[in-house]
Amino acid sequence: MTKKSFSRRGFMGSAAMGAAGVSFGSSSSAAAATAFDPVPLERPTSIWDLPTPALLVDEVALEHNLDKMTRFYRSKPAELRPHGKTHKCPIIANKQLERGAIGICSAKVSEAEVMVDAGIESVLITSPVVTPDKIARVVALAKRSLEVAVVVDQAHNVRDYGDAAGAAGVTLKLVVGLDMFGRTGIAMGQPAIDLVATIDKTPHVTFAGLQAYAGHLQHINGWETRNQQSVEAMTRAVETKAAIEKAGFPVPVLTGGGTGTYNMDSEVEGITDVQVGSYLFMDVNYRNIGGKTSAVYDDFRPSLLVLTTAISQPRAGRVTVDAGYKAVAADHEPPALYDIDGVSYGWGGDEHGILQFRNPSRRIEVGDKVLLIASHCDPTVNLYDHFHPYRDEKVTELWPIAARGRSQ
Ligand SMILES: Cc1ncc(COP(=O)(O)O)c(C=O)c1O
Repeated sequence: MTKKSFSRRGFMGSAAMGAAGVSFGSSSSAAAATAFDPVPLERPTSIWDLPTPALLVDEVALEHNLDKMTRFYRSKPAELRPHGKTHKCPIIANKQLERGAIGICSAKVSEAEVMVDAGIESVLITSPVVTPDKIARVVALAKRSLEVAVVVDQAHNVRDYGDAAGAAGVTLKLVVGLDMFGRTGIAMGQPAIDLVATIDKTPHVTFAGLQAYAGHLQHINGWETRNQQSVEAMTRAVETKAAIEKAGFPVPVLTGGGTGTYNMDSEVEGITDVQVGSYLFMDVNYRNIGGKTSAVYDDFRPSLLVLTTAISQPRAGRVTVDAGYKAVAADHEPPALYDIDGVSYGWGGDEHGILQFRNPSRRIEVGDKVLLIASHCDPTVNLYDHFHPYRDEKVTELWPIAARGRSQ
């Protein structure tokens, strides 16, 4: 199987421009350009001196994760098209592209706009976009970068894109989303073939491939079960790909997969690229699902941490910290203490968390700062304006989370 992107040119252009920190969209002013760049601090600052709650990135762990995933895929036929919804940060997107990723995924139009504004050309919007205003924005993006593509799963949506792209004088790349777990997508088999045929006969749009994202399988506990179900699901997607090709439509891309199945998707022949996201940060949710040889999923290191301060101790055996729902995503299990054993975090409301002491490996007193491993990385990132990247406990710059809040 050959490696496929929407094109290699997209990646080369993106990496080069990202590294130079130039080439922003025509609508961007010079002031807006800085919104994507690192913001230097006046002086190196110890992480323990940061105002809390603060979002930290352990750069050594982040680089380990980036490099490990890159090395793993280097020997595989598939490539990496990481999902930018995890970090929402062009600086991190460029680290992925510099290491050879063929493009970046964005969940929504507004997220994609940030990436294109920052000079990233190859962007796949992974959710359907159906309203005329947003269709117009997708088409406008495609005018700025020929490497922009968007997922579709309905025939009328294809026609709407054709009309809008025709009016704008552009040809838009459409990726057909397959229904993997009832969230979005078209049924595999004949309905998918019919949708590809609709794209084929609609002017101003081209069929760029298939998306098969098995989101329901990413967090299955236990590697063996996850592997068996994932290979089964992705094999069905590969069969649909073959059926579409048999019907006469070449399928250059079959994209899908995530962190929970990264070393399973790599083994399914026919998948061209994987949309891994959380591997960068490895949150508590992911650590709990189990790896191939360990109870903790530790293929990648936790790198996304929330620094919080103990602010009150109304009762013995516990202390209250200043990080609650507004500082750490609360949709799944709570965050974990990073480097202290025998203490657990419990929710204490919008602004607070309660650390319960069982047998603490270190004393925590009012005024002390502690590090939490984020519970669920994507929505935690979306709570902050900046990452504080650090090495040797020192922060020298901030990384803007430029697509923070871009959920439209
Ligand atoms: C369409 C799509 N692709 C890829 C991902 C990345 O998955 P993960 O963070 O599990 O690697 C997501 C995450 O929700 C997604 O929605």
